[in-house]
Amino acid sequence: MRGFFDKTNVIQQVSYRSEKGIHSCVSCGLYREVLHPRIEPYGEFEKKVMIIGEAPGEEEDKRGKPWQGQAGRTLKLELCRIGVNLFKDCISLNAINCRPVDKNGGNRPPTEYEISCCRLKVISAIKRYKPKVIILLGNAPLSSVIGHKWRRSLGGITKWAGWAIPDRDFQAWVCPTFHPSFIMRQEEENETRIIWRSHLEQAFSKAEEPFPDYPDEEDCVEVTNDTEGVLKGLIKQQPEFLAFDIEATGLKPYNKDVHEIVCISFCAEHDKAYCVPAPKTEKEICLLKELLEHPKIGKIAANMKYEDTWMNVIYGISPNPWKFDTVLGAHILDNRQGITSLKFQAYVHFGVVGYDEFVSPYLKSSSSYEPNEVKRLVQDPESFRQLMIYCGMDSLLTYRLAELQMKELSML
Ligand code: URA
Repeated sequence: MRGFFDKTNVIQQVSYRSEKGIHSCVSCGLYREVLHPRIEPYGEFEKKVMIIGEAPGEEEDKRGKPWQGQAGRTLKLELCRIGVNLFKDCISLNAINCRPVDKNGGNRPPTEYEISCCRLKVISAIKRYKPKVIILLGNAPLSSVIGHKWRRSLGGITKWAGWAIPDRDFQAWVCPTFHPSFIMRQEEENETRIIWRSHLEQAFSKAEEPFPDYPDEEDCVEVTNDTEGVLKGLIKQQPEFLAFDIEATGLKPYNKDVHEIVCISFCAEHDKAYCVPAPKTEKEICLLKELLEHPKIGKIAANMKYEDTWMNVIYGISPNPWKFDTVLGAHILDNRQGITSLKFQAYVHFGVVGYDEFVSPYLKSSSSYEPNEVKRLVQDPESFRQLMIYCGMDSLLTYRLAELQMKELSML
């Protein structure tokens, strides 16, 4: 049963607030010290692309418009090279819209606090202009636009640069890349500039693509107690690929007095996943073994060593043949740190974010061998259902991601 407020209302409403409440111009105070406070978005926006920079500098503050100094000239020139006119084709604003000044009167980077104070203004501008593409130049706009919805560690722009994220809240492609002043600090025409250009080209090409129309993934997950029915159905279907995922009481299963698997999900097609309570009867375990050891069904997981170890230790089942692991796939395709998790990949590829917010506090344990708190969810039927939906979404997204990565690796 859904509650009175649906999840999207709640996440949306809390997300623009910090833990300490709503931050605003009054709490920031920068507007009191500048020539042009609260500089408005600027540009004719013909290509429906919004560019978000860091903060106004001295030149911008003098003229009351973004991109008036050296960084603006660098950006303008690079865009010109790819056939884009900054002020005609785009609309520009900054993560902070009053100039941050240091104690000697010079420019300084904005603080995280100032970014959170200005976030509401930035988000309102996105909602008002409805851009097709939002380009985030550097760490400050990354934190402003993504930081509040990415509850894990955000990391820096290096981790996010170059992804074209189909952000569902904004119904826009969010394209982070480097700030022009970072490019200016590199030697001329080096590889960083070439990479920057390719990110900008990709971002503008997204303005020509229709925004993907996604079904609600939660509706693709069937939670059921009919474990036998689901297992028999999948064995009969004999899919080429089967993604599966478990929720369990910890990271390492070896202490069998303490540990158990609580539910297991399967996905063998794009828009359908099943989640069932962990098999308990001899019949159910036999069917699970038949499915997971079926020689014609290729197994897929996100971090397969986890599923493999738990299945072996708890049930004596050796899943095989293993066909694909999305964590390894992500690493092969892009060897940057901090990008291989299903949660990161699901956001950057499918725009799905925050679906683990309810369950993740219960999945943490003090060490690899200690139990987590997942049993507390299992005791309450509605919470267990939420856990099973989460587990089903993990399988569904693993399946979709594996498909995408295998295509990219020419394995399909
Ligand atoms: N000018 C802007 O408007 N934004 C920046 O981030 C830098 C210079």
